[in-house]
Amino acid sequence: MATATPTLSLVVAIAANRAIGKDNDLLWHLPDDLKYFKALTTGHTILMGRKTYESFPRRPLPDRFHIVLSEHVRYEEENVKTVRGVEEALAALPAGEESFVIGGGQIFRMFLPYCRKAYVTEVKKEFEADTFFPELLPSEWKLESARPWQTDAASGLEYRYAVYVRISGNVTFPGKENKK
Ligand SMILES: NC(=O)c1ccc[n+]([C@@H]2O[C@H](COP(=O)([O-])OP(=O)(O)OC[C@H]3O[C@@H](n4cnc5c(N)ncnc54)[C@H](OP(=O)(O)O)[C@@H]3O)[C@@H](O)[C@H]2O)c1
Repeated sequence: MATATPTLSLVVAIAANRAIGKDNDLLWHLPDDLKYFKALTTGHTILMGRKTYESFPRRPLPDRFHIVLSEHVRYEEENVKTVRGVEEALAALPAGEESFVIGGGQIFRMFLPYCRKAYVTEVKKEFEADTFFPELLPSEWKLESARPWQTDAASGLEYRYAVYVRISGNVTFPGKENKK
């Protein structure tokens, strides 16, 4: 009998030069983007690297199940599962519902091949950074929708919410059937 494969998406906020972080922190404070992130991920499973988990001011985030990748640390909090690698992380995802890769740079690179959708907040400015998001190749990804550009009143930053989808729609999880 075929088992339902989990659906994996990613959610990220990127600068014009693909920068996403510096000194284990975000590059900007966009309250509307935090609300967007919360609305997308609440009630779902979120998958992240140890550094991103430790960057949260308060953790774990409410009403979300966390899968945290680490080779050295094991978290014991409720709603948090620590995993040692990609296969263990993928095996821990709930079947038949959307889960989200939320960063950071190492984890986006590692899980991009398993993601079918990318929710990308695009910030129209370049930032100095030490962490970057990989390119979504036009041969593999297409823009599905984008809301109009808007301006954050406090910082003056221009940003928009874009959604990209994998063109082939084909994602293979280890040990699972291909998913269309
Ligand atoms: N703009 C955005 O949307 C966004 C979103 C998220 C994060 N960020 C930013 O991104 C930065 C953090 O990204 P990062 O790339 O430095 O770190 P990261 O991806 O959050 O975490 C890296 C850690 O994940 C663990 N890990 C990586 N590969 C593993 C594997 N194969 N098996 C087990 N564990 C593994 C390791 O933890 P151990 O060292 O414990 O083994 C590694 O140190 C911060 O600046 C953060 O603010 C930005």
